[in-house]
Amino acid sequence: MAASLGRLLRDRGKASQLGACVLSYQEADSTNDLALTLARQDAPHGAVVLADTQSAGRGRWKREWSSLEGGLYMSVLLRPPPEKKPSITLLPAAASVAAAEAIVEASGLKPLIRWPNDLLLERRKVGGILCEASFSGERPDFVVVGFGINVNQAREDFPEGLQTVATSLKIETGRAQDRMLVAACLAERLEFWWERCFEKSPDILRAWEERAWGEAGMRVRVQDKEGKEFEATTFGLAEDGGLKVRLPDGRIQTLYSEDVHFLRGIDE
Ligand code: BTN
Repeated sequence: MAASLGRLLRDRGKASQLGACVLSYQEADSTNDLALTLARQDAPHGAVVLADTQSAGRGRWKREWSSLEGGLYMSVLLRPPPEKKPSITLLPAAASVAAAEAIVEASGLKPLIRWPNDLLLERRKVGGILCEASFSGERPDFVVVGFGINVNQAREDFPEGLQTVATSLKIETGRAQDRMLVAACLAERLEFWWERCFEKSPDILRAWEERAWGEAGMRVRVQDKEGKEFEATTFGLAEDGGLKVRLPDGRIQTLYSEDVHFLRGIDE
């Protein structure tokens, strides 16, 4: 798998640094964990970790990420150059746009993005992204961006609890898709959007909003970092990528790392 992603990227000639170093596993515990370990061992910017399956795939809020064969499990190590500081709050939006564009390019399907970075097709989840950063003071030393994209799973491959809420590119197109093409497009688009995080480019949010699902007027249940729960209504994106919500008393709050549950059923 490693050789083919590296070769594909070289042949396509669109990415300069992302994917120059690719490590590939048949089974990993979590590609994010591997990439975090490699980052601490000085692996270069743009290193990619791929796995066919994961035994301990992680989602946001330490949720399990179902990682059976057929999915793409890919983590990318990003290191800001010493003279530059990226906007870390914009990175989840930038990574979501990259993933959505990669899916469009590889499969022709047009996913929507649910804040902060769920990818939806026909209101079912086709992918998720886990960004994990390591800081020296205010400055991010490195970031690992982990993508879980459901590419070639059949409906019955998903655990029972996910069968009505998850989908894959194969289910939606009716034919098997090329996982390495999705991975290559992902690396190329992430390289493009990562550069935009240094300029805090408004293009990131513009591209996000073009593909947004539920960023305005949706009822949400929120759990904050202290475990306190409240309901609110979404009110659009803040300039730094946070989700603005209106509280029942009319105040506006911006959410970043809170757990947000959209109350409209995913199948409605
Ligand atoms: C989410 O929707 O909660 C994010 C899911 C992210 C899953 C990917 S799969 C590759 C990488 N390795 C992990 O352990 N998690 C991410």
